[in-house]
Amino acid sequence: MRHLLSTADLSRDAAITMLDLAEDMADVATREVKKLPTLRGRTVVNLFFEDSTRTRVSFELAAKRLSADVINFSAKGSSVSKGESLKDTAQTLAAMGADGVVIRHSASGAPRVLAESGWIDAGVVNAGDGTHEHPTQALLDAFTMRRRLHGNASRGKGLDGVRVVIVGDILHSRVARSNVWLLATLGAEVSLVAPATLLPVSTSEWPVTVGYDLDAAIADAPDVVMMLRIQAERMNAAFFPSAREYSREWGLDDERVARLPADTMVMHPGPMNRGLEISAGAADSPRSTVLEQVANGVSIRMAVLYHLLSGSDS
Ligand code: CP
Repeated sequence: MRHLLSTADLSRDAAITMLDLAEDMADVATREVKKLPTLRGRTVVNLFFEDSTRTRVSFELAAKRLSADVINFSAKGSSVSKGESLKDTAQTLAAMGADGVVIRHSASGAPRVLAESGWIDAGVVNAGDGTHEHPTQALLDAFTMRRRLHGNASRGKGLDGVRVVIVGDILHSRVARSNVWLLATLGAEVSLVAPATLLPVSTSEWPVTVGYDLDAAIADAPDVVMMLRIQAERMNAAFFPSAREYSREWGLDDERVARLPADTMVMHPGPMNRGLEISAGAADSPRSTVLEQVANGVSIRMAVLYHLLSGSDS
């Protein structure tokens, strides 16, 4: 695998191999082992045209824990504000020596353009493109589910029969898209729950069931409830029930959390709108894996960088 652009490109074996590799990386990610020399002499460029906290920092940590050099590029404050194109920006950074480019961009498809255009000779990782995909988020989510469900016996396993409900702003969510493809590949049963205005019409072609009633979904006692951020920055007024209505009908509040089985996982990719799609009580409850997801992101991103840049095809 030269690039990671979409979870739809991953076979079940490839996905499980990546999750197992992340298990191997976990001791380094959590600092029980200080660093691996695997990517010494390699350079990873974090090319971020959109804001990020978790993804950018964890890719930086992941690269450093594999002994790579890291260049962090943020479009804000760069020559992008003078009109420099994606091609010229990427080629400028590649000319300084980039073996891997981790790109986040507001345009869906920008990572694929970078990977397939021939502009640069580097492995490309999609760190979130518009409303399209966020493959490393889905991998870290699957890794988190697998660890909670199987503990130390996770290796080699998929998520067969695990019932996952993804709730909220599916329309704008690259996290939802990447999760749908990966979870289906790993054998999970995925349901989407959202207001009709926040569901894309293309869900009829996705391997999911679709509903509008969060209370009915909760009554089915799912294994996982994954809440999504309301992406107000990508909306206009027509998309959105009022915040109060959204919170009342589709928010995971304390009372709904109390109705979930004690071992149901409550996930959120972050950043969270506390009080809108998720209450503080739900976000901070023992069921919540929000911070586990963040920590697991380092292991997953180490696995991805290792896989793409070490020259190993394991
Ligand atoms: N989950 C996620 O992608 O978070 P950031 O936008 O902070 O990277």
